[in-house]
Amino acid sequence: MSGPSPEMIELAKQMMARAYAPYSKFHVGAVVQGGNGKLYGGCNVENAAYPQGSCAETAAISAMVADGEQRIAEVLVMATGSELVTPCGGCRQRLREFAADDVAVHLCDTNGLRRTVKLGDLLPLSFGPAHLGK
Ligand code: THU
Repeated sequence: MSGPSPEMIELAKQMMARAYAPYSKFHVGAVVQGGNGKLYGGCNVENAAYPQGSCAETAAISAMVADGEQRIAEVLVMATGSELVTPCGGCRQRLREFAADDVAVHLCDTNGLRRTVKLGDLLPLSFGPAHLGK
């Protein structure tokens, strides 16, 4: 699998900088590339009522769908820290709605790519649209 484009990395950095994370102080940027080739970014947006916060991946997916695209070709998640940051369980399922098992998920920090994994490895034997005849 090839690495993310410089444009994807740059957009993720911008998204990370715009995160609203006053509680966790953990800034996350996410970018999805649509089947149409366009890049869609999102950041995490926390809330004083903690469970109402949302993840960066969720925002990026919403931006893509709102633009009329429903296929994810590539994913990038960016955050800092010693631990490799992977999408949370809920976001793995949200990505899976629009992405095939072989879609690359680039795990990055602000220095660039740390590791690329396949969505199917993050969410094996997943439930998806095909189970409901879609
Ligand atoms: N977060 C994301 O936005 N994406 C991830 O992949 C992991 C976690 C956010 C949610 C919350 O605002 C903060 O990171 C700490 O969990």
